[in-house]
Amino acid sequence: MASSKLGLDTVEGEQNNEYVFSSGGYSASARLNLQYFLFGWQTGFQISPLVPTNKENLMIADVGTGSGIWPVELSSKLPSATIDAFDVTKNLIPRAEWLPSNVHFHHLDVFEPVPAEYIGKYDVVHIRFFAPVLGKTGPEPVVKFVLQMLKPGGILQWDERETSFRISENGASKSGGSQATQSLSSSIQVMFKIMGHDLSWITRLDEVFDSGGLVDVKKEQYSTPNEMHAYQMDLFFQTLEEASIGMDRMRGKGEGDELRTRVAAAYEEHRLCGSLMEADTVVCVGRKAH
Ligand SMILES: C[S@@+](CC[C@H](N)C(=O)[O-])C[C@H]1O[C@@H](n2cnc3c(N)ncnc32)[C@H](O)[C@@H]1O
Repeated sequence: MASSKLGLDTVEGEQNNEYVFSSGGYSASARLNLQYFLFGWQTGFQISPLVPTNKENLMIADVGTGSGIWPVELSSKLPSATIDAFDVTKNLIPRAEWLPSNVHFHHLDVFEPVPAEYIGKYDVVHIRFFAPVLGKTGPEPVVKFVLQMLKPGGILQWDERETSFRISENGASKSGGSQATQSLSSSIQVMFKIMGHDLSWITRLDEVFDSGGLVDVKKEQYSTPNEMHAYQMDLFFQTLEEASIGMDRMRGKGEGDELRTRVAAAYEEHRLCGSLMEADTVVCVGRKAH
């Protein structure tokens, strides 16, 4: 690993549970939207085929909606459904007049009690890429929160990305090669620790569902097809560049700069040698018992 005086190789110093992606704006929105389309390409769906959608007048919630692209695109496929898009901020959501008539944005904080009007209201609740928010708490309180929002028999679909990376060069797994990529990967693990994140639960999201009381739980993993690597890596580098702005704020500009330097080196290595950081996408579906 490259040596650094700046702290990206160590968790020493103040731990900070702040949300690293809180810069907002068009770059954040565009990144989430690209991520959305790559998710669809990788898995073949946005709403899992395990979620029954052949009923009229479904009530659907998207918690931590970001730019709202999931509810907005779904709205024309399920015109009789009402889709509530929830987030703690409306920074990324389109203006209300640009939302389809069956999509409504509402403020919601998953760390507060569930507002009475949303209890037992939904047939389907969807959550995607919410792990960066859960440094302090892990996923259990969110499962509990969402169970209150679901009708009996309602379905939770939760999508995440694994965070332990497989490093490879030109498709062949390497343990010692791809030095800049290895170094970047290590910095990311340290960054998660700085933010208080233990994201090992993503691999066992199905167990979290089981112990939260959901039934008929099914978890599926999707690896990155070869022809998608270039696009996925671009997204990944962009995500880290955005995180480096959070690092400037949380740990000082020195560490933000260090992360940007490592991103640039790993990008060059990726272009020259084909080095990759791969992580599976996880989709977990479970039902609230009657
Ligand atoms: C990584 S983004 C994912 C957005 C979207 N689900 C997607 O896949 O594009 C996480 C979202 O969670 C929202 N969020 C953060 N803290 C939250 C909270 N306490 N309650 C609800 N949403 C929150 C953020 O504002 C952000 O829009």
